[in-house]
Amino acid sequence: MKTQESNLQEAQSQIDSIQSSKQISTEGLNSRQQKHLETLIARYTKRTKTSKQLTQAYCPVLADLRGSVGPYSLLKEMAYPIIGKHASGSRMWDIDGNEYIDLEMGFGVNLFGHNPPFIKKALEERLEQGIHIGPQSDLAGEVAQLVSELTGMERVTFANIGTEAVMGAIRIARAATGRYKIVRFSNSYHGHFDGTLVKAQKADGNGRAVPEYPGVPPNIAEDILVLDYGNPQSLEIIKAHEQELAAVIVEPVQRRRPDLQPKEFLQQLRQLTKESGIVFIFDEVITGFRIHPGGAQAWFGIEADIATYGKIAGGGMPIGIIAGKAAYMDRIDGGMWNYGDASFPHVEMTFFGSTFCKHPLAMAAARVLLQRLKTEGPTLQQQLNQRTSQFIKTLNTYFEADEVPIRLANFGSLFAPASSKNLLSAGNPTASMTLQLLCYHLLDRGIHFLGGTGHYLSTAHTDEDIDCIIQAIKDSVRELRDGGFLPSPSDKLAQT
Ligand SMILES: Cc1ncc(COP(=O)(O)O)c(C=O)c1O
Repeated sequence: MKTQESNLQEAQSQIDSIQSSKQISTEGLNSRQQKHLETLIARYTKRTKTSKQLTQAYCPVLADLRGSVGPYSLLKEMAYPIIGKHASGSRMWDIDGNEYIDLEMGFGVNLFGHNPPFIKKALEERLEQGIHIGPQSDLAGEVAQLVSELTGMERVTFANIGTEAVMGAIRIARAATGRYKIVRFSNSYHGHFDGTLVKAQKADGNGRAVPEYPGVPPNIAEDILVLDYGNPQSLEIIKAHEQELAAVIVEPVQRRRPDLQPKEFLQQLRQLTKESGIVFIFDEVITGFRIHPGGAQAWFGIEADIATYGKIAGGGMPIGIIAGKAAYMDRIDGGMWNYGDASFPHVEMTFFGSTFCKHPLAMAAARVLLQRLKTEGPTLQQQLNQRTSQFIKTLNTYFEADEVPIRLANFGSLFAPASSKNLLSAGNPTASMTLQLLCYHLLDRGIHFLGGTGHYLSTAHTDEDIDCIIQAIKDSVRELRDGGFLPSPSDKLAQT
């Protein structure tokens, strides 16, 4: 077997031979843009050399979405994930020793920053006791109670990840209603379960779905309607199908569109689903415990029938949670009964469970995290939400004043480009590549910002961190303008 060192050497010679033979394509760029891109690639690949080497070295054996080349062939030489070495608070360090202020925060997991001491301590203590899987978890009941107290949901069960929680919630809804069709909305994401990986066939408003990816069976799509989020017409379509629908699932505020916060639409959906006996599922994998201790339900003042959680709740360990009204959750175990009398589980059960559910480390981390949220109360989220709103407002004010065609939006401590206002992504492929280039400039300046959708501030981010991020964005914009990838106000003046 080859050592990691020899793998790295081989990878580096391959990388060198590609660079020396000038195979880096800059087709379609003017000379100013070509020069900018070549300089950035040289600088960035030098700074993050080991991340690139490791990606190349293990590509033959490690099949990994995150190692894949994105849509921009021009950026291929920088298309590798930053390989992390350690992380603490708002910061992480890569394998080359570069330090970053992290804006990804574990894809929304680390509300308290990386490796918060109170969670680390709980995990260390638990590890001492051994990782026993098989006997019932001694913490599961307490964690379920904390989830119930914080979210207002009656009963709670555990999964390993958000995807699994969504899958279970949909199965419960189907079991409880005896119906099979579900409604989901365009632009929402509910994980990688076949049953939600479908998209609207075409925007003709009938909601017919087709598989979103190869490998998703077409017959799965037959049981799903994909509708337009926030659009009153979607309510009419749901009404027309009310007899067939088991559930309507929403990502209350979509990570892909944080500027769309349709409270009234959600209220109408709640009313309609209640009248039609359709299970209303809030997928709170992102919003849960983030926007408010009670998640989006508490924020919008809407009671869902079932809600799914994950991410933050596990305190850094993998977790999925399904919580809901007893009438639905009883499908998991048959419902409430007592010893010492004639009571017996009375509800017909479906099947939900897996080897690692209630993993001892996940339960230990979830318990201290939820206890902390309970002790701190909603002020914790209010303050973080407020800081994030201020941060986004400062950036948008700068973008506007400096005529930078980007706008951001936030929902609490989640932020992302505001799709409806983002001039850069308005169907212009070079423009959206510019957004990706901005990410590389930020990474190069020590800001871990991966583009795409969903970035997060944590309670560990300081005012100095925020100032550094803002400065890095301004410096990156200036460099992109110098390189001809972003128009400057002076370009406009020159044209008039
Ligand atoms: C709203 C929502 N639901 C479900 C999921 C799936 O969670 P997981 O990645 O833990 O499977 C995600 C993941 O990002 C999500 O954002």
